[in-house]
Amino acid sequence: MTSVPAPTFQHLPHPAPTSAERRAALLADPGFGRVFTDHMVTIRYSQAEGWHDAKVLPRGPIPMDPASSVLHYAQEIFEGMKAYRTADGGAALFRPEENARRFQASARRMAMAELPEALFVEAVEQLIAVDRDWIPEGEGSLYLRPFMFATEVFLGVKPASEYLFVVLASPVGAYFKTKASAISVWVSETYTRAALGGTGAAKCGGNYAASLLAQSEAIAHGCDQVVFLDAIERRWIEELGGMNVFFLMDDGALITPPLGGTILPGITRASIITLARDQGIVVREEPYSLEAWRADAASGRLREVFACGTAAVLIGIGTVRTASGDFTIANGAEGETTERLRNALIGIQRGRAADPYGWVHPV
Ligand code: PLP
Ligand code: COI
Repeated sequence: MTSVPAPTFQHLPHPAPTSAERRAALLADPGFGRVFTDHMVTIRYSQAEGWHDAKVLPRGPIPMDPASSVLHYAQEIFEGMKAYRTADGGAALFRPEENARRFQASARRMAMAELPEALFVEAVEQLIAVDRDWIPEGEGSLYLRPFMFATEVFLGVKPASEYLFVVLASPVGAYFKTKASAISVWVSETYTRAALGGTGAAKCGGNYAASLLAQSEAIAHGCDQVVFLDAIERRWIEELGGMNVFFLMDDGALITPPLGGTILPGITRASIITLARDQGIVVREEPYSLEAWRADAASGRLREVFACGTAAVLIGIGTVRTASGDFTIANGAEGETTERLRNALIGIQRGRAADPYGWVHPV
């Protein structure tokens, strides 16, 4: 269907947009993922028509047939990206084409139709254009949630022939509620997130559904997030429920688990690898085990650990809990390198620092 011209967006007016006063009240303390803007974007796909029926419309319920195949076999993928207010008074996305490409990779893994990269970016831009006033001032941002699911009405188990792509926007503040400078994590030794050949590298809803029991255990143990180990040896650190992870050693090297098909190729992870290397830090993508984590924390060989992702940005990990005992990284507070890398990333994202990489995409 790539030969079909990209659809033009039809704009449906909002009958009762949120008042400026109400919006200001909502933007004062949005938290994460609970406040939504007035509009959404939808684009339909069918095998016969390709991508069509692109709309910018008031955000609202999506009527669905109860036999829509996503409700039975979970053919669903999503992305997470942010729009920021920039120092020059404008607004910008961060590396949106990377989200578009990862969305295509997720679609391929889930046997779904691939949305062209330019249409993905345009859909996000269209939504920002109508809901621009919802981008928070200060340290907040507008979280964009593009997603796509199978709408074919059919109970046979096969890739659907019809999909709906949707973009929502949600003004957000900090992802973690904790007042501490670093988060605590629970290492799940019972549940794994992904196995080789599985869907770990795809951003599909099913991966998150499968992570929720382990994440609930983390919360029950007083921790902010779960850490998953590999599914074969139950030994190698993979990633958190919704973030990648980095370890800073006392020789100054930064270690992060390699992408081997079982972890999500984070855009923040890739950006931090570039920023760190350009600051002269040696970055090694290599396996790191739970035993090493515990031993290196005890010996002092491990200086800092941080988690990173679009929603959480960069945050230090201070305390680690496991079924066989807890340990602390350094003094349990966020470290200096974590803070420095976060500031470097945020500086570029918000147009306060130069962008030698061409990562900032003004909107
Ligand atoms: N790992 C998982 C499981 C995630 O859900 C996310 C968040 O998107 C990440 C890592 C970080 O990816 P990114 O930096 O692209 O947001
Ligand atoms: C993100 O960082 O965008 C995520 O997807 C993490 C979580 C909210 C699922």
